[in-house]
Amino acid sequence: MKKSEAQKRIISLSEEIQKHNHLYHTLDKPEISDLKYDQLFNELLKLEAEFPDLMKPNSPTQRVGGEVLDSFEKVQHREVMLSLQNTYSLEEILDFEAKIQRQLGSEAPIEFFCSPKYDGVAIELVYEQGKLVRAITRGDGTTGENVISNIKTIQTIPHKLKTSRPPEQLDIRGEVLLFKNEFARINQEHQDRGLPTFANPRNAAAGTLRQLDSRIAAQRNLQMICYSLGYSEGIRFENHADFEKGVAKWGLPITPHTTEPVSLKSLAQICVGGNQVVDYYQAIGKLRHRLDFEIDGIVVKVNSFKTQRSLGFIARSPRWAFAAKFKPEQAETLIQDIQVQVGRTGALTPVAVMTPVSVGGVTISHATLHNQDEINRKDIRIGDTVLVHRAGDVIPEILEVLKEKRPKKSEPFQIPSHCPACGQESTQLEGEVVKRCLNSLCPAVAVESLKHFVSRGGMNVDKLGARLIETFFEAGLVRTFSDIYRLSFDQIIALERQGERSAQNLLNSIEKSKKTQLHRLIFAMGIRFVGEQTARTLALHFKDIHSFLNTDKERLVAIPDIGPKVAQSVMTSLSDKKFHEEVEALLALGVTSEVILAPTNDKQSLANLSFVVTGTLPIPRNEVQDMIRHAGGSVGSSVSKKTSVLVAGENAGSKLEKAEKLGVEIWSWDDLNSKIQ
Ligand code: IVH
Repeated sequence: MKKSEAQKRIISLSEEIQKHNHLYHTLDKPEISDLKYDQLFNELLKLEAEFPDLMKPNSPTQRVGGEVLDSFEKVQHREVMLSLQNTYSLEEILDFEAKIQRQLGSEAPIEFFCSPKYDGVAIELVYEQGKLVRAITRGDGTTGENVISNIKTIQTIPHKLKTSRPPEQLDIRGEVLLFKNEFARINQEHQDRGLPTFANPRNAAAGTLRQLDSRIAAQRNLQMICYSLGYSEGIRFENHADFEKGVAKWGLPITPHTTEPVSLKSLAQICVGGNQVVDYYQAIGKLRHRLDFEIDGIVVKVNSFKTQRSLGFIARSPRWAFAAKFKPEQAETLIQDIQVQVGRTGALTPVAVMTPVSVGGVTISHATLHNQDEINRKDIRIGDTVLVHRAGDVIPEILEVLKEKRPKKSEPFQIPSHCPACGQESTQLEGEVVKRCLNSLCPAVAVESLKHFVSRGGMNVDKLGARLIETFFEAGLVRTFSDIYRLSFDQIIALERQGERSAQNLLNSIEKSKKTQLHRLIFAMGIRFVGEQTARTLALHFKDIHSFLNTDKERLVAIPDIGPKVAQSVMTSLSDKKFHEEVEALLALGVTSEVILAPTNDKQSLANLSFVVTGTLPIPRNEVQDMIRHAGGSVGSSVSKKTSVLVAGENAGSKLEKAEKLGVEIWSWDDLNSKIQ
């Protein structure tokens, strides 16, 4: 065969095989026999062997089954995937039962179905006529992504339910997990190959499910445990325990359960009354570290489906279920050093550098010590052995010093009297606990101010990250805000590791940032005490940058929401000639700032309503607030009788409780979206 003919044939064979891969692996609808498929495949292999330079790196012969997707298909859940209300103490568990009893108007102990709260990735499996057709991530609860090609690599999930009479429609929810030993194996392999490692099994599972090439998932032994029912047609169960037994018979993996107290073999249990739930919570807490997978609490559901229906829902969570989470984990480690970092406002912040230690699966090596008072209060010294945890399960924090382990020669730690970045003497302003470097030329202050200037809430130069700012600063290319808009292609490309493409991307991103809104420009300038909200207030009041620059103190304090402290700070900045010069330079370089005069949405469907937003929502909170403002609503920060609506996301806490108490209307994310048209 001539080379040109071979090339054509290779392309057509590749396309055909790709098509059959999709039909077979993803759609489960093969159109040709295995034999025919193998013939096509072998023909391609032969041609590629004969003409090796014609082989494409993404040839089907280079993959083990499956296909590489371009992206995941977005699909709606037939019933929204809800979240759970959380409790953290034994009293709260008992309170929960009491609350349910009140709602039901009965004092009889409630029968609960309890299982571990698996710390993985929630997935919904969709079976139609007993066949697995989709597997959807939780997404925002309403719409997720179809990751079926990856889910099908999980050995324990049946592609077809084991029954001759399957329900017509069945949505089953559960958690996809990586067991601890598999997680360790993957991380070891990554480390050996110089690849980044995963922080914990949940991230690794989520990262695996996001892979567009299902070969990767096939190499990692994912597991799934099913725990709840979504939409269904053609089945009826009396209670949750029966539901789990039923789906187990169809071959779906569930938590093994008994009516006896839990053991490693039986982790789910029926508990009658809150006290039994408390016992279960404690028993699971003791077993926790001996399990093969990570859990972060227990999930308690009212067993009877009839009672579940009568209890209903609140915001995004059912009233008939809750999670009782375990207290955050702690670990012991050593303080190797205390470094002092200089922030944008010159604040000197001490940070403990510790021997890396794993806390609940996440490695911790740094923790802020806030200020001298905090160091003194906890008496933290270099060389101390300390207990650390993750505050709110996220931010590393030193809980206490284990004094009995303190070395004999240790000394109390003092934040240095001079700035570690510029050497100038630091100052402790009246009424403040932090020490500050007040040198207006301090390089650390300048670099941090530049980072703030380009940040998301500021000028939003998304391609200009912290590292790059530091590089530009050190190279002397960017010293002031306006220098960013003076950068040239040649200057960028002359820096190490900057390719033409990334240099152009950076310039595009800088150019894009020039057209901004007034509140962003004001925020970006980094005036002390002027956060995003205050910048917005100022922008709405002054409407253009020059009337802001030329204001006086009287006018500032007359603005509702601007207090004397903020006004003073704004005046300090405005009385600085350099501040004016810098703004003028920005304008001369093409920065323009318009004011969003609140409503931009014609329907104004939220006019005259005041909102408070709380909990975790699918998009950042400030963006939710913007959405509300654009639709004519106003946004406040605390719930009061004047609040019209509380928009509550996942894990909403005290604000939700307060709103309930005051009878404030509560909207979910979906409610909000349906009201904004
Ligand atoms: S039942 C109405 N059972 O926790 C909610 N959820 O914060 C029904 N989870 O999205 C969920 N283990 O991802 C249930 N045994 C378990 C669970 C569990 C973990 C997750 C699930 C859910 C989240 C709620």
